[in-house]
Amino acid sequence: MTVELQGIGRRFGERWILQQLDLKVGQGECVALLGASGCGKSTALRLIAGLDQPDRGHLLIEGEPMDRVPARQRRIGMVFQSYALFPHLTVRGNLDLGLRLRGGPVQDRQQRIEAMLDVVQLRELAEQRPAQLSGGQRQRVALARALLRDPRVFLLDEPMSNLDAQLRDELRPELKRLILDGPQPVIYVTHDQVEAMALADRIAVMRHGRIEQIGTPQELYDTPSTTYVAQFIGRPPMNLINMDDNSVIGVRPEHLNLDDAGMDCRVLNREWHGASQQLLLDSQHGNLRMICDGGVSLGDSIRVSWPSQREHRFNASNGRRQ
Ligand SMILES: Nc1ncnc2c1ncn2[C@@H]1O[C@H](COP(=O)(O)OP(=O)(O)OP(=O)(O)O)[C@@H](O)[C@H]1O
Ligand SMILES: [Mg+2]
Repeated sequence: MTVELQGIGRRFGERWILQQLDLKVGQGECVALLGASGCGKSTALRLIAGLDQPDRGHLLIEGEPMDRVPARQRRIGMVFQSYALFPHLTVRGNLDLGLRLRGGPVQDRQQRIEAMLDVVQLRELAEQRPAQLSGGQRQRVALARALLRDPRVFLLDEPMSNLDAQLRDELRPELKRLILDGPQPVIYVTHDQVEAMALADRIAVMRHGRIEQIGTPQELYDTPSTTYVAQFIGRPPMNLINMDDNSVIGVRPEHLNLDDAGMDCRVLNREWHGASQQLLLDSQHGNLRMICDGGVSLGDSIRVSWPSQREHRFNASNGRRQ
């Protein structure tokens, strides 16, 4: 099973929200669409789901053009940030509704729902209504409902962004087990780079309705093709230093080292993160962020350097990697 976007564009009025989207997601692959708010991620998913139509380009599922295939015939499992559960129905009722619309014998339906309640570990809560569930439990109902549709493709639009950090950590392995490890292609929208790095086989960094770079998490981390990608992947973001020759040197905070022969800096701010600390340094190149192990206090004068092989170089005018 594959999903393929060929030159997809969408405009609202005069504004092209999606410029030219080319993307192929293979069998069992998870691609994260990562980008800032408003860059067109949800719009792209809605087009794939058939909830909206592109103004140019084509969408193919399993090689078949979807131009004239309505949403309900595309067999797509979609999960939203807002869960989109029916508040007056119980968990069981919510799961049943999707199946009932597709028809089939009552007994089959019931069997599948009961099995699914075990898979997502919601059996005890089957008679509760959404308002009586936690955010994580609601999201599991939404995942179960998408799974029951037996989709050819999964589209997930920030499915965990309403959950707190701890619950997200808990739900990530479940999401992997239930959806990402399956044979269907998955497109996973998020603006959280940690989530994208953790879950996706490949990440497409979107900016202003285009894909700025696509690659494995490691490729994007090691060789970002622009300063935008460089600062979007990795946290805290890469330091960028303007040089005199119209170039920019990029160094990740985790690649700065204490070095007696290095550059003079003063510690302007220090955040303790347990295993490491994050420093904000004043240097001849402006402020730099640094991650280090400890032994540094606020106001200290320190010397830092970085290994030359960890240095990235970009063109200062267009931001492209040199
Ligand atoms: N129906 C519409 N009519 C007009 N403009 C729209 C419509 N839908 C979306 N837009 C605009 O398209 C742009 C992209 O919206 P979209 O919802 O795809 O962004 P997003 O990347 O999902 O952002 P977020 O991370 O905040 O969810 C926004 O500027 C939005 O205002
Ligand atoms: Mg969105």
